[in-house]
Amino acid sequence: MRPIAGWRRLMALGLASFIAVPWSGTGAADDLAKGEHIYARQCLVCHRLEVGEHRIGPALHGMFDRPSGTAPGFMRYSQGLKNAALAWDDATLHRYLQNPRGMIADNRMIFVGLQSEADRQAVIAYMRATFD
Ligand code: HEC
Repeated sequence: MRPIAGWRRLMALGLASFIAVPWSGTGAADDLAKGEHIYARQCLVCHRLEVGEHRIGPALHGMFDRPSGTAPGFMRYSQGLKNAALAWDDATLHRYLQNPRGMIADNRMIFVGLQSEADRQAVIAYMRATFD
């Protein structure tokens, strides 16, 4: 696995603090910061934030607006994820991130799963704030 380049990490952190400012003090900012932290450590190595920047996994930008398995230009989707044609919302993301292989049998995302519901919640909130 390649190390995450420093500038990308800094950019992701900068983005999170930028997003966090309007809500500071409400608790939502804490959730976003936690979600950013989890995303940077557990997802960023395979999923970049920028449109079309595919790595091991597809760029997730725009994922809330399209069915699963349809990021333009990503050629390595499993048949299962494409056929599932899931709408990515809170319910489907909770199930997928908890146990990707349990949800999609031939899933190609080599990820053990986020067991903590609070962690999943935080990372989903972060992705919404970032990609929506
Ligand atoms: C080791 C690399 C890797 C890691 C780590 C990883 N993913 Fe993935 N992810 C993939 C691959 C590969 C796919 C495509 C899976 C398939 O086609 O079956 C994928 C698919 C996805 C999808 C579906 C995308 C689409 O276009 O339908 C989402 C959402 C997702 N990952 C979110 C996450 C989140 C959130 C994390 C961190 C908690 C994460 N992934 C960690 C490799 C990874």
